[in-house]
Amino acid sequence: GADKLDYVKSKIGEYVDFPKKGIVFRDIFGALTDGKACVYLRDLLAHHIRITCPDVELIVGLDSRGFLFNLLLATELGTGCAAIRKKGKLAGEVVAVEYQLEYGSDTFELQRSAIKPGQRVVIVDDLLATGGSLLAATALVRKVGGVVLECLVVMELLGLEGRKKLDCNVHALIKY
Ligand code: PRP
Ligand code: HPA
Repeated sequence: GADKLDYVKSKIGEYVDFPKKGIVFRDIFGALTDGKACVYLRDLLAHHIRITCPDVELIVGLDSRGFLFNLLLATELGTGCAAIRKKGKLAGEVVAVEYQLEYGSDTFELQRSAIKPGQRVVIVDDLLATGGSLLAATALVRKVGGVVLECLVVMELLGLEGRKKLDCNVHALIKY
């Protein structure tokens, strides 16, 4: 476990002053171009879910980098997966929640048909920063009757204290 985690960590990109001066950008795509890191990431995330949420029924990913992990984990765990998308992309009846970005706001949506009432859900994304995205995601899952077992991310930026916004279990493989 620790060896795999160290290997993945070593492949995460680090870009100083991107997208703005003063920001150190942690880039998941640096790891995903490496075959071994892909397999280790899958193993680490799936292992964590098997231990903490063995009764999970659905993996929900956030637009867009969460989609790198929702189907991957669903196929590994034998669950379904679903997508939370930026507004206007999903067909049929949707629920919507506005969330805060660094400047301004955006809206996430989820199809009402994606989750059955009482279904047990793990929400995945690449990164937890301010927590606005995952806060909106948990609200959407609950709006359609889902039960949030956990928010699971590859990376967490501890300085932004995004975890404090969330009232569910939160787990990050890597913390900066
Ligand atoms: C990034 C990241 C998370 C979110 C985290 O996505 O992939 O989803 O920001 O930030 P927060 O904790 O402050 O809400 P972004 O909104 O840039 O969209 P993208 O995945 O489509 O690039
Ligand atoms: N990396 C990727 N996405 C982000 C970051 C970061 O460091 N900060 C806010 N969104």
